[in-house]
Amino acid sequence: MTARRLTVGRAGPLTGRVRAPGDKSISHRALILGALAHGETQIEGLLEGDDVLRTAAAMRAFGAEARRRGEGRWRVVGAGGFAEPADVIDCGNSGTGARLILGAAAGFPLAATFTGDASLRERPMRRVLKPLGEMGARWAARSGDRLPLTLQGGGLKRISYRLPEPSAQVKSAVLLAGLHAEGGAEVVEPEATRDHTERMLRAFGARVEVAEEGGGRRISLAGGQALRGTLVRVPGDPSSAAFPLVAALITPGSEVTVEGVLLNPLRTGLIETLREMGADLSVSDVREEGGEQVGDVTARHSQLRGVVVPPERAPSMIDEYPILGVAAAFAEGATVMRGLAELRVKESDRIALMAQGLSACGVGVEEEPEGLTVVGSVRGNHAVAGGGLVATHGDHRIAMSHLVLGLASEAPVAVDQAGMIATSFPGFAELMRGLGGDISS
Ligand code: S3P
Repeated sequence: MTARRLTVGRAGPLTGRVRAPGDKSISHRALILGALAHGETQIEGLLEGDDVLRTAAAMRAFGAEARRRGEGRWRVVGAGGFAEPADVIDCGNSGTGARLILGAAAGFPLAATFTGDASLRERPMRRVLKPLGEMGARWAARSGDRLPLTLQGGGLKRISYRLPEPSAQVKSAVLLAGLHAEGGAEVVEPEATRDHTERMLRAFGARVEVAEEGGGRRISLAGGQALRGTLVRVPGDPSSAAFPLVAALITPGSEVTVEGVLLNPLRTGLIETLREMGADLSVSDVREEGGEQVGDVTARHSQLRGVVVPPERAPSMIDEYPILGVAAAFAEGATVMRGLAELRVKESDRIALMAQGLSACGVGVEEEPEGLTVVGSVRGNHAVAGGGLVATHGDHRIAMSHLVLGLASEAPVAVDQAGMIATSFPGFAELMRGLGGDISS
């Protein structure tokens, strides 16, 4: 991935209709379940970003066929299980890819070595290795619980696991391993997290029990269930749609519609929060696609005000805090975001990088160990200075967030490593230019 610098200047109104790229979480799962299943899976609307392409390559390495047949159209043919890969599995920048594939692979009697890029090699893997180890998988890492590491799977026993942190990746890893464990698996999540694995397992013919428990859920499945290939239509990613939508909210005169956005209630925390801030956001043509609700979301320029975001909302908008920080910079008053410990172990330490990037652009911020307060402009739009060169540490969402900020700030904003945007949103700069954004290299 190139370390391409991009600069963005203040734009006129942003207008138009666009389609968000396919949902990243669902794209990974479609490839992995397709590879675990018997028979053919057709995928439409797959996100063809680097993270997901790494997962496709990994599925081939484990013995499945995964072939592109046209834009976003893929065919996966699984053999009903994974075979030992001949080479190292490189998950690139993707925590989701690494953690879900570790879970899926743990169910089979094979050894596989996993690695990733510099960011992924810094990210904690104990959160999946601990439950997989309790089920009977073994692993050896070069350093602590970090990649590169070698997993030895097979012979798994049942687990009932209570998630110590709200993580759909960990839940998914345990459920995927449970498919091939004697007695299956049960996961208790004190706070509900995105449920794409549960939904998709059912679409592939598995029986998955889900019971509401307090604010969370108890999810269980029996072991030894065979998956059958199916058709998966991938909806638009709300985490990507967030960038053009917030760009329209902060840029005077704008009106932008993003079509086909996933509206799963476990993913819509940002929409809820922006509405509380006074955002003019409307949702139309709500329909069902591939077992999920989708709709067209329209954002019009709005005068935003700061809010206190309830910490319990974090799992439903965990990847959206960087762009929320940008919306907050253009709001009147302070926006308080707490309960964000998980943001420190994403593709970068997102609390630290947002605090640094926003202050480099003249925005008042207060960093806390598990939170961030952004003090918006009291004068409303066009009072954010901009002018910063933002260090992204290779984090795609830090890059896109600051490029959006630069569309409405006084002075141009530059980001140092825009090449990484292709991990989740290939064509981001072109899409924003098509709406009227002034982004150049
Ligand atoms: C994801 C879960 C979240 C999210 C990530 C995708 C998934 O991570 O941040 O981008 O697809 O399950 P955690 O499970 O670490 O919260």
